Amino acid sequence: MGQTMNIGILTGGGDCPGLNAVIRAVVRKSLKLGWRVTGFLNGWKGVIDGNTMPLTEREVSGILPRGGTILGTSRTNPFKNPGDVDKIVQNLKKMQIDALIAIGGEDTLGVALKLHKMGVPIIGVPKTIDNDICGTDTTFGFDTATSIVTEAIDRLHTTAESHHRIMVLEVMGRHTGWIATVSGIAGGADEILIPEVPFDLDTICNHLECRAKSGKNFSIVVVAEGAKPKSMADFATISSEKDEFGHVRLGGIGQLISKEIEKRLGVETRVTVLGHVQRGGSPTAYDRVLATRFGAAAVDLVMSKGWGKMVAFRSYKIVPVELSEAVEKLKTVDMELFNLTQIFFGDPCERVAEKPISRSKK
Ligand code: F6P
Repeated sequence: MGQTMNIGILTGGGDCPGLNAVIRAVVRKSLKLGWRVTGFLNGWKGVIDGNTMPLTEREVSGILPRGGTILGTSRTNPFKNPGDVDKIVQNLKKMQIDALIAIGGEDTLGVALKLHKMGVPIIGVPKTIDNDICGTDTTFGFDTATSIVTEAIDRLHTTAESHHRIMVLEVMGRHTGWIATVSGIAGGADEILIPEVPFDLDTICNHLECRAKSGKNFSIVVVAEGAKPKSMADFATISSEKDEFGHVRLGGIGQLISKEIEKRLGVETRVTVLGHVQRGGSPTAYDRVLATRFGAAAVDLVMSKGWGKMVAFRSYKIVPVELSEAVEKLKTVDMELFNLTQIFFGDPCERVAEKPISRSKK
């Protein structure tokens, strides 16, 4: 048997179904190797404050199907407050942590990369319901979120049809429209609006009108919270307050376009904002398996001292990739996939645009 290790693990950023499955796999595999696992509470905050819990067989028993994270999470950015990074380095040393596994999205992994460059032995595990991390085909949590949204679209369909209304559904997706695109396709939405493609309300209303003229007396519009009309310079936000990574709280675009559609078309329009329902609850079977594979592979990376790397899912295989590749830019929606949606918009007999929609420059 090789060297006995003491592994630290944390979950940072927005929670996501499947986090507990990763923690469980890391602990179970580590215990088999005779290693110890220490859980840091509430993301980077737990490492700064030295707030931990031991992770043994007992703590991870029964957590596989549970949503959220038993470790708690936060959007703490140690590079924001002077002295916090030093505390991290000191605490890891004091607690004799040989390796740190950071499970998180762009922000958490960005911190992990900076710490790696300072010599901290660190491994990343990608998580986000938004599916916007580069280097990996997908992240756990995304399948669960899109299943929840698809079910919501199905439910909206029956009530929209009964009342002959237009239903606008606002979903998560701060910078990218993966959730809106995939669940919109799965649920048969009549319009899908995403941050990557600024939209034109005249065109949307035109499509909805054509649909009505062709005999369909209801419509479903799915809009990502980060989508905006071409005419709008800023995102619709709930407040101007920013988190420690500089993100404002998005929300309100659904309400805005719903009012405008009703005004322009004179058709009763309702808005539903799914919000955190998309992030809560039990992970799907797909996400449980992906998260379990990620957890086990993270332990393998610790064993091979693959510091500064992240476990990734590529062509059905789990592979290591550089953290730098994962955080240098966001993975935006595949335009081939998005363009598929065009054949379902507007009048069924209308000609599909000859030129596919291309992504606007950010
Ligand atoms: O990062 C994932 C995400 O769910 C985004 O889609 C959303 O904008 C954000 O988190 C919401 O964050 P919070 O839970 O802090 O309001």
